[in-house]
Amino acid sequence: MANVEPQECLSVALKLVKQAGDLVRDAIKKKKNIEMKSSAVDLVTETDKAVEKLLITGLSSAFPDHKFIGEESVAGGEKCVLTDEPTWIIDPVDGTMNFVHSFPYTCISVALWVNKDAEVGIVYNPILEHMFTALKGQGAYLNDEKISASGETDLSKALVFSEMGTSHDPEKVDTVITNITTLLTKVHGCRTMGCAALHMSHVARGAADANYTMGVHCWDIAAGSLLVKEAGGVVIDTAGGPFDLMRRRVLCASTQELAEKIAKLLKQYQPERDDAH
Ligand code: IPD
Repeated sequence: MANVEPQECLSVALKLVKQAGDLVRDAIKKKKNIEMKSSAVDLVTETDKAVEKLLITGLSSAFPDHKFIGEESVAGGEKCVLTDEPTWIIDPVDGTMNFVHSFPYTCISVALWVNKDAEVGIVYNPILEHMFTALKGQGAYLNDEKISASGETDLSKALVFSEMGTSHDPEKVDTVITNITTLLTKVHGCRTMGCAALHMSHVARGAADANYTMGVHCWDIAAGSLLVKEAGGVVIDTAGGPFDLMRRRVLCASTQELAEKIAKLLKQYQPERDDAH
């Protein structure tokens, strides 16, 4: 097993993520070259590819034995397999649709998982200068301030994020609409920002009380899941069982009580697992 020093891994990754942030901040103002992936609304730009290359090149030179799962590498045909080995899980631009529209809720998400557990999590929105970080067992931070989940338990007082997603599969679309219809009259408010990693980061900082989504990928939620847990929140499957990073479903909340109340109300959808191939 490769050697892992989480604090050192965080410092190296932070430097690279800040450089990547410069690329995103510069590119968001310009015209983008946009390509489609799994659907007409699942997009990739030259910035997604450049950021992923910068991060993987920098991290693999610092940690030659570590493994990688990167959104654009997987789109290019690489396998998406999580082993016990130290593995960096990277979404170079989460919220690519937002980025394409210059909507400033987009971020770089980088996590280090070891023994199938998150050790390091970074979510950086370079447009609004929000740097969320967490190390396992050491709390979560926004810039230099420690953050905490809200502690909310009451569904009727909860601000809840969810995702529209990028799939036009009729069963998925129906699940999204059914769940919003169910929750809308039971919660304080429903919101969607179009960026899974930022949804989780804002639950971690107590600016929203829960977030659920089905159809995301491991790179969208690998860092956010650590941020939420380190901020005192919980991360479970949308049906209420244990969280499985490769299952493409996540429900996070300020408290277990709130998470379970939401899980009981949700219609479920199971996309193909990330590690299916
Ligand atoms: C997408 C975003 C979006 C979510 C999609 C993701 P990407 O990630 O997180 O909020 O609804 O399911 O694929 O493609 O912009 O990195």
